Amino acid sequence: MTQEASRRNFLRSVGVAGGAGMLYSAMGALGLAPVPDARAEEYRPPRKSDFTLTGQSGKNGRKVLILGGGIAGLATAYELGKAGYDCRILEAKDRPGGRNWTVRGGTTLTDLDGRTQTASFSKGQYMNAGPARLPQSHVTLEYCRELGVPLEVFTNQNANAYIYHENSAALAGKPVRWRTAKADAYGYVSELLAKATDQGALDKDLTAADKERLIAFLQNFGAIKGKADGFAYTGSDRRGYSVEPGAAFEEGTVLGPVPSLSDVIGSGVGQRFSFEFGYDQAMLMFQPIGGMDAIPYALAKAIGEDRIIYGAKAMEVKDLPDGAEVVYKDATGRTRSSRADFVVAAVPPMVMTRIKHNLGADITAALKYPVATPVGKVGLEYRSRWWETDEHIYGGITPTDTDLATIWYPSYGYQGRRGTLIGYYNFGANAVAYSDLPHAERVQRAVSRGVKIHGEKYRTELDRSFSVAWHRTPHIEAGWVGWPSQTGPEYKLLNKSAGHVYFAGDWLSHVIAWQHGAFTSARKVVTDIHERVMAA
Ligand code: ALA
Repeated sequence: MTQEASRRNFLRSVGVAGGAGMLYSAMGALGLAPVPDARAEEYRPPRKSDFTLTGQSGKNGRKVLILGGGIAGLATAYELGKAGYDCRILEAKDRPGGRNWTVRGGTTLTDLDGRTQTASFSKGQYMNAGPARLPQSHVTLEYCRELGVPLEVFTNQNANAYIYHENSAALAGKPVRWRTAKADAYGYVSELLAKATDQGALDKDLTAADKERLIAFLQNFGAIKGKADGFAYTGSDRRGYSVEPGAAFEEGTVLGPVPSLSDVIGSGVGQRFSFEFGYDQAMLMFQPIGGMDAIPYALAKAIGEDRIIYGAKAMEVKDLPDGAEVVYKDATGRTRSSRADFVVAAVPPMVMTRIKHNLGADITAALKYPVATPVGKVGLEYRSRWWETDEHIYGGITPTDTDLATIWYPSYGYQGRRGTLIGYYNFGANAVAYSDLPHAERVQRAVSRGVKIHGEKYRTELDRSFSVAWHRTPHIEAGWVGWPSQTGPEYKLLNKSAGHVYFAGDWLSHVIAWQHGAFTSARKVVTDIHERVMAA
């Protein structure tokens, strides 16, 4: 069979098995058809007319109890509500959102160690303690549109922010602007590759015309000199200026001196660049205006506040022959029970393992399989926006090799009087090291690192602060989870119903630690429940 014929056969079989949509994407993969933007699997919300048009009105209003008012729980109630399901959410905290949590003046947190903080941030200042950035491809943006949550750009990458390495083989302890790091790394790599190409080192791979075009690309990419000057990289205004160009005879002074090739490689700055290429980290990114919690509050409003019971701590989930029952303690400490046709457990697996149930030992074992990731964040409110006035940094992130991991500059309130940085956003051992300390010592430690990058004002201008350690936060207990395997029996088991009980959350998706994962997991469970009800 010729290649052409086998390709036609392949496409025909795809078309038969998967329909037109699948046929087109297979054609796209073979380079035969334009591939539309990647989309979450097509989702059709349940509708009231699904019952009426099929003469099944009697099935309308099935009761669903949802454990957890985080994004997955809220989205489940919101979507099922579109078809008239009678949903109730039992939420242990006194607010919706789960990890989607915006801390403002007055916000209080008592962690699992019994330590209480109350934020005293000024009016208008806030920190998104959990999710803080939204990629353009995520369904979270669709929900923002549907719910009327206004967005603004979140600056994930800024040429004026720094890269700070203090443990590198060269240039240790010297903050380097992203623009400078890129100019030097791209410049030297281009110089080397242009030389190698010109000297014939790649003759096996390149035709003479390819060589010429590659060198032309490298001259542009790295701002290197021509052949007569050995394709040398000697720096360019891409590095930035020590004296800005200005009026009349002020040409400006390009930032120098250019470090050696060996120092640039030794500094390790180039290892940071892949961050901005990541599928879910690439600019542009977005945030709701005024705080990420605009999303859960809009969902709660759309669902109906009376459908969310706050302060309700689930104690037991029982699958029954014709439904399910939840025993919980209400905000006053009274034990109550509630029955429904279905239960959706939209709580983290660590929390679910401690809720009594009759779903079987394999469910308990599966719930214990994903591993909790410790995550911490500190918000630092400053009396002035010195990063803008003194350092010309308007948003963005400085990665470091310290235990801070990263420092984030706010993507709101530009040119205002005050501003709130994220002084650390760290994971794993670093997050545990900070959470072991009381809040004041966390701040002291974070500031001692920040001073090395930004100078004494990092200490002297600081006014207020608030820190969160998600792994020490009641009813949440992790920043997110990691699965040793998402192809094993545990993940499969929890992605299907256990009798009348379903599980939902970002942890049951391939987009863990993003609201997109929670929304799409909720949509899956909603579809499963609705199809089951319709088919019964
Ligand atoms: N989604 C998380 C973040 O943006 C992991 O950092």
